[in-house]
Amino acid sequence: MRPKVTVVGAGNVGATVAQYVVEKGLADVVLTDVIEGLPQGKALDLLQAGPVQRYDCHLVGSNDYKDTTDSDIVVITAGLARKPGMSRDDLLFKNAEIIKGVVEQVVRYSPNAILIVVTNPLDAMAQLAFRVSGFPKHRVIGMAGILDSARFRAFIAQELGVSVENVTAFVLGGHGDTMVPLPRYSTVAGIPITELLPKERIVALVERTANGGAEIVSLLKAGSAFYAPGASATEMVEAILRDKKKILPCAAYLEGEYGINGLFVGVPVKLGRRGIEQIVEIKLTPDEAAALRKSAHAVKELVDKLKL
Ligand code: NAI
Ligand code: 2OP
Repeated sequence: MRPKVTVVGAGNVGATVAQYVVEKGLADVVLTDVIEGLPQGKALDLLQAGPVQRYDCHLVGSNDYKDTTDSDIVVITAGLARKPGMSRDDLLFKNAEIIKGVVEQVVRYSPNAILIVVTNPLDAMAQLAFRVSGFPKHRVIGMAGILDSARFRAFIAQELGVSVENVTAFVLGGHGDTMVPLPRYSTVAGIPITELLPKERIVALVERTANGGAEIVSLLKAGSAFYAPGASATEMVEAILRDKKKILPCAAYLEGEYGINGLFVGVPVKLGRRGIEQIVEIKLTPDEAAALRKSAHAVKELVDKLKL
């Protein structure tokens, strides 16, 4: 029997996650939304792409959580997306209400699922999902670091004219303006970019990465990025379902790691069939550690507003 993945929110990110999950043959997918017909229409359309794209995974769309029963993974993309001039934080209260309702339903029908939270503001929504679900911390994971690192990797590859396959990068911290790209741990064929690029170019790439989401919002005007976010969430689904033990930057609940306590923040984790199987602590310079603390502080300010 194939694993079952539910994607809550059949909008841009959710439909893209559904598409990539079935294209990779990872799982059968249930796509849900509050809008009647939307998840049904998109799931049917994706099902009909199967014979051409050569996947056998099954898809259904639904407005009823009963259809999500016993999902292995639930990817939560339900909520509002950023519009031009809107920060991720502006979304806080509206999306908090949505996430609370969604998680209550998800837990009722899939008490053993692993939750991958995508909705913004990401770290605060992951924290809310953790509290509302009552799930153990290894089963609630936020998606942001893979996306931010992918943006950094794409920019590094472009700058140096090399394959993206040669480029690894790490972006830690909260998914917001205070995110912490780590050039020392970002490499091309194993060579740190600090050896390959002048400081001012690295600063420019770091800045573009931190503004990566806003750059796309300003171009699209009516929504935010979804291909790279969809691909990033799918990488998490794959690492979990295939028990890959992959080290990826994800938002995880920290209890003392990196000197941070009781908060979801982006750090390197090992993802396998149990969800987060390890939080990987890498050595940071005093500047990097201070940037991570500052980013965690920004997350805490939002979480405090939610009064969890
Ligand atoms: P979208 O507007 O295309 O889709 C959101 C969908 O959620 C809509 O179809 C809407 O009807 C649905 N929805 C609203 N309330 C719901 C509820 N209670 N139950 C089920 N579905 C509900 O937005 P998009 O572009 O898909 O973005 C979704 C979220 O993901 C936004 O909050 C966005 O900011 C966030 N995001 C986060 C990223 C990250 O790196 N963590 C990257 C990209 C987007
Ligand atoms: C992004 O970074 C909007 O958080 C979303 O594209």
